[in-house]
Amino acid sequence: MLRLITFVLSMSVAASFAPPTTTTTTTTTTNRLNTQLAAEKTAIIAGATGYIGKSCVREAVRQGYKTYALVRDPQKLETKEGQVSFAPFFEGAEIVKCDVTNEADLQKVFADITADRQKIDAIVSCLASRSGIKKDAYLIDYQATLNCLEAGRAVGAGHFVLLSAFCVKNPWLQFQQAKLKFEAALQEQTDMTWSIVRPTAFFKSVSGQLEVIQSGAPYVAFGDGEVTRCNPIAESDLATYLLDCVTDKTRHQRIINLGGPDEPLTMKMQGEMLFKATGMEPNFAFAPVWIFDVVINTLQFLADITGSEKLENAAETGRIGKYYAVEDMLTTDPSEKYGTITLQEHYNRIAKEGQEYDPYTTMFSRNRIRKDGNTKLVEAKESAMVE
Ligand SMILES: NC(=O)c1ccc[n+]([C@@H]2O[C@H](COP(=O)([O-])OP(=O)(O)OC[C@H]3O[C@@H](n4cnc5c(N)ncnc54)[C@H](OP(=O)(O)O)[C@@H]3O)[C@@H](O)[C@H]2O)c1
Repeated sequence: MLRLITFVLSMSVAASFAPPTTTTTTTTTTNRLNTQLAAEKTAIIAGATGYIGKSCVREAVRQGYKTYALVRDPQKLETKEGQVSFAPFFEGAEIVKCDVTNEADLQKVFADITADRQKIDAIVSCLASRSGIKKDAYLIDYQATLNCLEAGRAVGAGHFVLLSAFCVKNPWLQFQQAKLKFEAALQEQTDMTWSIVRPTAFFKSVSGQLEVIQSGAPYVAFGDGEVTRCNPIAESDLATYLLDCVTDKTRHQRIINLGGPDEPLTMKMQGEMLFKATGMEPNFAFAPVWIFDVVINTLQFLADITGSEKLENAAETGRIGKYYAVEDMLTTDPSEKYGTITLQEHYNRIAKEGQEYDPYTTMFSRNRIRKDGNTKLVEAKESAMVE
């Protein structure tokens, strides 16, 4: 039971908010065109150290942008772990130390870049609060993202691409409200053109049980394992889509829901795919969805009588978990499906190579795991990420 409750809470974070994939982005004709259009232009990536942000940095460089990666703590990139996690993504980009929560700092950075480059053509925001709790969400998903927009408007920047989330269309969580508030501010202004991309789910959010099943424990699915369906998208595919929004005018002034190439996948199907990738016999445990209500209601009750912010936040984390246990993250319209990398391909790769530990999700692996089972950090060159 204790394991189940821990799992419920950890799923909460996983679902909304994991490791880079060593995937190859297929270069389409459109991409080649966009690459030519982007040559010599300037792009700023905010939230550059995030799961999608770092893929965007790599994609912007690949498309020929002079790319500036905004980073709050550049020292994080210098450690051995930082080298492994970021070096393959940041090659060719300028790393700029910047506190996005400090409007003046951001304004200065944008003014300096504009002075050097004459114009900022694209700002791509992949900023997101790490916890999803109300205070962080309004600080980052709303205010810091707004700071980026205002700094861009002040220097006459061109196009703003917002990485949002599919789930905001049915918003009963605090972080979704914060995201919607920024989406509204972006749409209201007319100085910069914009694209809002709302992805369904990332591969990291449906990969957290790899190490669990490898340890011999069952795959835990909610309800009968068929309560929800999703079509997650690979981070490299999503990064290509986000950067292409800058040059593809048909994506301007639009809110776009976006999922990956898979057909609808239930949790049970995801489990079966993971067992297939690991070559293990399927072994499932089914957790009732009401377990979330027990955890949430208990935490909320305690929060209300004690006034504890910690307990209030824990209850919100529980609500985040429940949200993804009961809501589909699915696009079926062909115009809302994108990319070439399927979830099975991703599972096959991480089952062989391991995946990077992500403290903000249910990625249980401590480090990328080598084929021989040695859990020491893999050298950066061994984990070279693509192409
Ligand atoms: N997970 C999913 O399945 C899923 C699906 C659809 C949409 N989304 C949405 O996609 C977005 C991005 O997700 P992600 O997983 O790529 O994000 P992430 O890995 O959590 O990265 C968040 C980025 O924001 C930065 N950041 C957070 N707090 C900050 C602070 N206080 N000051 C400065 N920078 C801060 C982080 O910097 P540090 O590295 O310095 O912390 C990092 O660069 C989120 O809005 C999420 O809702 C997620």
